Amino acid sequence: MKLTLLTAIYTIAQVSALAPLEPPLGKVLLGAWYDRNLTDTPVAVNARINYKPLAFFQTDVDFSSTLKPWTAPSVVIPQFLRQLNETQTDAIAYLTVYPFQGFANITDAQLQDMANRLNQMVDAGHSVLLRFASEMNGNWFTYGQDPIGFIASWKRCITFWRNALGEKKNKVAFVWSPNSGNGYPFPGGEYAINVNGTDQATLDNLKVMDTNQNGILDYLDDPYMPYYPGDEYVDWVGMSIYHYGKEWKWVDNVVPEADKFEHYLQGNPTNGNSSGYYPFYSFFSGPSGCVSNITNEVVSRGNKPLLISETAATFHFAYLNVSSTANPNNCSVPYCQSTATRLDIKRAWWRSFLNQNFVDKFPMMKAISTFEFIKEEELTWRDFTMFGPAPNPYGDTEESVAQATAVVNGFTADAQAGMFPFLVYANAVQTTGAVAATKTSSAASRHFFKCLVEMVGLVFSLI
Ligand SMILES: *[C@@H]1O[C@H](CO)[C@@H](O)[C@H](O)[C@H]1NC(C)=O
Ligand SMILES: *[C@@H]1O[C@H](CO)[C@@H](O)[C@H](O)[C@H]1NC(C)=O
Ligand SMILES: *[C@@H]1O[C@H](CO)[C@@H](O)[C@H](O)[C@H]1NC(C)=O
Ligand SMILES: *[C@@H]1O[C@H](CO)[C@@H](O)[C@H](O)[C@H]1NC(C)=O
Ligand SMILES: *[C@@H]1O[C@H](CO)[C@@H](O)[C@H](O)[C@H]1NC(C)=O
Ligand SMILES: *[C@@H]1O[C@H](CO)[C@@H](O)[C@H](O)[C@H]1NC(C)=O
Ligand SMILES: *[C@@H]1O[C@H](CO)[C@@H](O)[C@H](O)[C@H]1NC(C)=O
Ligand SMILES: *[C@@H]1O[C@H](CO)[C@@H](O)[C@H](O)[C@H]1NC(C)=O
Repeated sequence: MKLTLLTAIYTIAQVSALAPLEPPLGKVLLGAWYDRNLTDTPVAVNARINYKPLAFFQTDVDFSSTLKPWTAPSVVIPQFLRQLNETQTDAIAYLTVYPFQGFANITDAQLQDMANRLNQMVDAGHSVLLRFASEMNGNWFTYGQDPIGFIASWKRCITFWRNALGEKKNKVAFVWSPNSGNGYPFPGGEYAINVNGTDQATLDNLKVMDTNQNGILDYLDDPYMPYYPGDEYVDWVGMSIYHYGKEWKWVDNVVPEADKFEHYLQGNPTNGNSSGYYPFYSFFSGPSGCVSNITNEVVSRGNKPLLISETAATFHFAYLNVSSTANPNNCSVPYCQSTATRLDIKRAWWRSFLNQNFVDKFPMMKAISTFEFIKEEELTWRDFTMFGPAPNPYGDTEESVAQATAVVNGFTADAQAGMFPFLVYANAVQTTGAVAATKTSSAASRHFFKCLVEMVGLVFSLI
């Protein structure tokens, strides 16, 4: 009796304990990945939204300074800190760390340097969401589709950083974040695993990736579980989710279906080829977790807070090689056909997950990062922004600025109309040392449950 009750209480406490930086149930942090390289800034994003300051800002670094020197931590992080400071808020620093040099080439010196910088960010009043080697199940990054190499590297890096952070590790959350599984294993990518490879490392990887064990790596294999390092090494889970249009070749401007975002997050067995087959949220954030088909072991006990790591509904505003020199904003037949405006497309997207029903249905979705970029990808020039107009490398017309402005104004109008009561924004800070309300409450509830467990344990041991 005594043991059963105690076990129950410990279980409740465990379920209720919050991960680092996790807001309380029913609350969702909103943030943005801004185009640092093209002179966008957090202050400028907040000004364009013209409502409340975003809870976090995202930027990216790469350990290897040889590939792209301007992405080295020593260049990016001091600038990032200055730009966060300019917001005069306690905004969380969301750092995407790319190991483009390859897992095996990461040195202890690089890990120590990053640990020092994490310490510095926390000391400056900015907690950190750190997303390491994101989209590792994709084949567009140098380190992609190497689950065994990824997991070993993840464990090494996260263990190193947690040890180096000591007490401060409660202010740094490590985010494991694959790409949404629709289209997996993404045939044709530059860094796709070689399905005909005969070296031992490739054979070992193929064995864990072939989750239905039918000897073929294809769309019916689980795109997530093979890459999961284990609950104890992961604070948050995350996923990249995008709307590019209706179908490949992704050149048409269409309003996303209301359930598209949900289907990317959870899979859709009846339309798995376009949505993915596997329920990511249930596996890692739901109450039951998931079991490996191959080893029959528990992969995750679930209950992980979920960050939508990067999301956008794209608007294709020019087709490459057709209009690029003529007019940067020309989207004529037969390309980039529009059945909708930028605002129609993007508002349908944000309303599909920024609504109370969705938040109630997926209560562990605790943070969302928008992708504030205008860039060239595949066949088109794309406006991903929700809080634009962001700097446009291809030049702007009055028309495109007006369209992008209508989008951010549409978001602000929705927010002012009270459509997002669950969103959490940043707190104003005048001096260093002040602590965010949400962070205080996370720490406080953790502490509360710990005390509760100790007190109840004491009472029972006295009975
Ligand atoms: C980012 O900025 C650097 C340095 O100014 C430049 O060399 C690089 O081409 C830029 N990258 C992109 C993607 O614009
Ligand atoms: C490590 O770096 C070397 C030299 O740049 C490169 O040839 C090698 O492929 C890298 N290793 C991995 C695992 O990426
Ligand atoms: C693997 O081998 C099969 C059969 O020989 C071939 O059809 C396929 O193109 C090969 N795939 C790759 C990625 O080399
Ligand atoms: C693997 O696991 C998934 C999800 O639990 C399940 O739907 C699928 O049927 C399993 N496949 C096999 C081959 O056991
Ligand atoms: C999914 O795609 C595969 C490979 O192209 C195809 O063989 C299969 O029939 C498709 N399944 C569905 C349900 O469309
Ligand atoms: C837009 O592109 C189409 C197709 O290439 C071309 O015929 C047309 O002249 C362009 N319009 C403008 C305004 O540039
Ligand atoms: C655009 O033109 C360049 C140069 O002719 C070519 O290399 C590239 O593949 C073309 N891109 C597309 C998307 O057609
Ligand atoms: C910004 O930096 C200044 C100088 O270090 C510091 O006094 C101030 O508290 C910082 N502001 C914020 C919001 O962190």
